[in-house]
Amino acid sequence: MLIALGGTATVTSATASENDTSKVALPEMNAERGKNLFAERGCVICHSVNNVGSDVATSLDASNMNVAREPFEFFARMWRGAHQMLALQQADLGYQIDFSGQDIADIFAFVQNSETQEDFTEEDLPDHIKEIIDNGPSISGK
Ligand code: HEC
Repeated sequence: MLIALGGTATVTSATASENDTSKVALPEMNAERGKNLFAERGCVICHSVNNVGSDVATSLDASNMNVAREPFEFFARMWRGAHQMLALQQADLGYQIDFSGQDIADIFAFVQNSETQEDFTEEDLPDHIKEIIDNGPSISGK
């Protein structure tokens, strides 16, 4: 099932009556909350949105997300980049970024939502994250 996200679209549950997928449930996805997480958790240290953040890794502008508009594909792409991401997180933050399923659902909503992204500015960045970006993340992933 593909979910088209418009605005801060909310999908409470996906029901699939066939086979054994009847217990599949998707979390609500909140792009506004995702915007805060994207900044606070530090994705922005390597990925930019709306020209905010660094260019160590691929920009996560909604316009770049046309290929993958479903959450599992988004996560699969993160998985493929995991090795590099974790090494760089260790170098720049000193720890591995933690997130729940709900957190990543909200971040997914944010990276798909060009309207919410237009409101994303430097002012959304907490000081300690801004400092790391200003000092230049230590290694380039590219
Ligand atoms: C310390 C650097 C760093 C941080 C922090 C980081 N990433 Fe990444 N990310 C990378 C690198 C490096 C890659 C692989 C190379 C690339 O895709 O540019 C990557 C790849 C990805 C991809 C795949 C992109 C594609 O087009 O295939 C996604 C999606 C992604 N990251 C999302 C996130 C999210 C969400 C967060 C925050 C929870 C995050 N990243 C935090 C460095 C980072």
